Amino acid sequence: MTQDEMKRKAAEAALEYVIADEIVGVGTGSTVNHFIDVLAEIKHKIKGAVSSSEASTERMQGYGIKVYDLNDVNGIEVYIDGADESDHYLNLIKGGGGALTREKIIAGASKKFICIADESKLVDVMGEFPLPVEVIPMARSFIARELVKIGGRPVWREGFVTDNGCDILDVHDLKIMEPVKLENQLNSLPGIVTVGIFANRPADVLILGTQEGAKTVLSK
Ligand code: 5RP
Repeated sequence: MTQDEMKRKAAEAALEYVIADEIVGVGTGSTVNHFIDVLAEIKHKIKGAVSSSEASTERMQGYGIKVYDLNDVNGIEVYIDGADESDHYLNLIKGGGGALTREKIIAGASKKFICIADESKLVDVMGEFPLPVEVIPMARSFIARELVKIGGRPVWREGFVTDNGCDILDVHDLKIMEPVKLENQLNSLPGIVTVGIFANRPADVLILGTQEGAKTVLSK
C-alpha cells in the first residue's frame, strides 16, 4: 500500500466517529482531503461542517456540504484532522499545511478530536518534522532569534501567507521531550500567534493507516 492509500484507509475509518444530524469539524491536508471525499458520500446524514481552512471549505462546498462559521454553532461534537507527527500520548505536531491556528481553535472547541494519519507519523519523540510556528509578520525576526536561543533552527516559509495573513517559521533541530512545557513557553512570546504543538489539547483518538489497514491508537 502506498502512503496515500494508507491515508485513505485512516480517513475511511474516521467516518464511524461522525455523528448523524450534527456538525463535524474538518481539518486540512491531504489525509483530510480523503476524509472530505468520503464524507461527501454521507453528506445527507450530517447537518454540515466547520472548516479549518479556505482549502477545505472550497473542497466541501464543491461537494455541496454546508460549511458553518464557528461563531454560528454551539460547539462541535467531533473534529477530524491530520497531523505531521504524533507521539504515543497523542501529542501532535501540526501546521505542515499552514492551517495550525484555525485547527487549534476548532480542536479546542470540539468535544472529541480524532486524528487521522498514515503510520509514518507515529514517533517516539516529536521534532524530526520541523515545528511550524505562526507569527505576526513584524515579529518574525524577533521570534526567530528567540527560537535559536532554545536550540531551534527556524526557517521562514518564504512566499507563504496563512489564511490569517501571517508568516510561518518552520523550526528544525528540536527534540520535543516535554511538549506541554514547550508549547506553553512559546505561547508566552509576544508575536507568536500559534505554536504547532498540540499538547495542551492532544488528540483523543489516533487512527493510523497501516499496511494491514486502519488501526486505532489510544494515548499511552
Ligand atoms: C495542516 C496540518 C495537516 O494536518 C498536516 O500537515 C498533515 O497533512 P497531510 O495529511 O497532508 O499529511 O496540520 O496545517
